[in-house]
Amino acid sequence: MGAPVVGIIGGGQLARMMHAAGIGLGIKVALLAEGPDVSAAQVVHDVTVGDYTDPATVIAFAERCDVVTFDHEHVPTDLLHALQERGVLVRPGPEALVHAQDKVVMRRRLASYGLPVPTFAVVASPEELVAFADGTGWPVIAKTSRGGYDGKGVWKVDDPTGAGEPFRNLAPGVEVLAEEYVPFVRELSALAVRSPSGQAVAYPVSESVQQDGICVETTTPAPGLTMEQATACQRLALEIAQDLDVVGVLAVELMQRADSSVVVNELAMRPHNTGHWSIDGALTSQFENHLRAVLDLPLGDPRARAPWTVMHNVLGGDRTDLVDGLRHVLARDPGLKVQLYGKGVVAGRKVGHVTAVGDDLDEVLRRARHGAAELRSGS
Ligand SMILES: Nc1ncnc2c1ncn2[C@@H]1O[C@H](COP(=O)(O)OP(=O)(O)OP(=O)(O)O)[C@@H](O)[C@H]1O
Ligand SMILES: [Mg+2]
Repeated sequence: MGAPVVGIIGGGQLARMMHAAGIGLGIKVALLAEGPDVSAAQVVHDVTVGDYTDPATVIAFAERCDVVTFDHEHVPTDLLHALQERGVLVRPGPEALVHAQDKVVMRRRLASYGLPVPTFAVVASPEELVAFADGTGWPVIAKTSRGGYDGKGVWKVDDPTGAGEPFRNLAPGVEVLAEEYVPFVRELSALAVRSPSGQAVAYPVSESVQQDGICVETTTPAPGLTMEQATACQRLALEIAQDLDVVGVLAVELMQRADSSVVVNELAMRPHNTGHWSIDGALTSQFENHLRAVLDLPLGDPRARAPWTVMHNVLGGDRTDLVDGLRHVLARDPGLKVQLYGKGVVAGRKVGHVTAVGDDLDEVLRRARHGAAELRSGS
């Protein structure tokens, strides 16, 4: 019996951080990467470069792994079913994962459980989108059912002149989902991890800040959330994980209204940007717990190590050599933790993150923001 091999499809920073988390447990990672130099391919030993939509490539890769999991949710659902039929362990499985791949499937399923979701409809034309908005009130949100990320594939439509945009360049089989605009005061994220045996844990709930559709900062626990509200969010995530038979991390992105009620935005079934804080801020990181879950090992304690943890993303800016920025940042704040993803610096692209922990929230926020700003642009 050798060490178990976890096959990860997708070579981004999530795969890179999963690999790091598996080293101590003796877990081997095999990677199906988009290119030889992508973030995780720089650190994983066993790399196959290939197209994750090509059945022959994915099947050949998967058949030599003990279990297959994901860095992103873009592997075609049919291909995952084909893997399962060949006896490959796919975790999370396609029946669960489709709810993270397809926002229409997700909305319908959660609505059928009576869970809080925005009023929504699938619209087939700009005219139907206008009719939907006339019913719910303007503005509305339009989204493509599949393929979106970091705010791409999401439009706020203020009036009928903008109703054509979501239908432009629609890929085959992709639908347009119209949603009531939720006037949220902040976004929250509830992360749960579930194993095939049914063991599950919930992380403390985080507040996340998005700019231009990209997560820039999280604070954990979410400030001002009462114990009852936090528990309700955790319970929601645990229930969805169980109902959908999720294996691994489930991130439930929530929008909180002024009256404190929450609405589910979307689901992700892989380590999530809002859980990056857990590497340095929790007793067991989301990456380690994801690996433990897909291997059906006992899960680790998700609790926070300190009263406050702030994670701030480093987005591509003026500084092109991030390692150059490290000297200043590390010298200034020995308690700050830095993760760099080995990616080329492109304006606005996620290239790393920093994490600060401590007792005083204002201080922790200031330290995380300063570290990220310095890495991004220097002074
Ligand atoms: N119904 C809504 N009402 C108001 N704002 C919304 C609504 N749906 C989404 N948004 C806003 O748009 C952002 C992006 O939406 P969503 O998470 O569906 O897209 P995404 O591109 O798949 O995101 P991700 O980067 O998380 O994959 C949300 O984080 C939220 O700020
Ligand atoms: Mg989202």
